[in-house]
Amino acid sequence: MTSPVRWHHFPDAAAVADETVRRVLAAAKLAIVQRGVFRVVLAGGSTPERAYRQLAESDAEWPCWQIYLGDERCLPPGDAARNSRMIEQAWLRRSSIRDDQVHWIPAERGAEQGARDYESVIAPILPFDLVLLGMGEDGHTASLFPGHRHPQTALVVPVSDAPKPPANRISMNFSALQQSREMLLLITGAGKREAVRRWRKDEALPVASLECPAGIDVLIDHDATG
Ligand code: 6PG
Repeated sequence: MTSPVRWHHFPDAAAVADETVRRVLAAAKLAIVQRGVFRVVLAGGSTPERAYRQLAESDAEWPCWQIYLGDERCLPPGDAARNSRMIEQAWLRRSSIRDDQVHWIPAERGAEQGARDYESVIAPILPFDLVLLGMGEDGHTASLFPGHRHPQTALVVPVSDAPKPPANRISMNFSALQQSREMLLLITGAGKREAVRRWRKDEALPVASLECPAGIDVLIDHDATG
C-alpha cells in the first residue's frame, strides 16, 4: 500500500498553523457527528505549537475529544523538554479538556515499560480519527529515525539512541500511525528543505514510510519548499 501524498503550499508558518486548526476542527466535527468521539494523535516538536495555541482560543465540543501523543521523550513528568509539557503549556492548561480525556505516553517509566503500557492504551481504541505529525531535518517523524529498525507488529516502540536529544524516547510505530482516518504532516522552515527534496526524490526516509488509507496531507510553507 502506497498512500497518496497531497502537498498543500502556504506562504509561511502562520498560514500553516491556521490551516492546521481549520482541518483539526473540521475533522473533530465530522467524527463527533458520526461517532460521538474524536480521537486525535498530537505531534511533538516546535512546529505544531502555534496551532495548539490557536486551538486554545477555538470553540469545539471539547468533552468529546480524546487526546493521544505520537511520541515522547523519556524525561520526568513536567520536564520542559517533554512534548506533553509543551502541549499543556500551549493549549490544554487553557482549555476545558479534562485530564481523563488526555492519554500521555508514560515515558517516565522508561522506554521499554512505557512503550508496553502505552500499547495497551491505544490497541483497544484504534483507529484514530486524525494523526498530526512533524518531520525532522533528517526525515524522521514522531521518533522513528533513519536507520532504526522496529518490529512491524509493535504499535508502540522504545527508542534508545535517537540522533535528536534526548536519546531515549517512545514512539508510536508506523503500524499504529497508519490506523487513522486522516493524517496531517506539518513542515515549516528552511531547515526542512533538504529532507523534503530527498523525500520527493523517493529516498527511503522514515517520513516516506508513512501510510494512511485516506492519503496524507502535507501542509508546508514556502521556506521548507524552497
Ligand atoms: C520530537 C518530535 C519530532 C518532531 C520533529 C520536528 O519529539 O522531537 O515528535 O518528531 O516532530 O523532530 O521537530 P520541530 O517541529 O521542532 O522542527
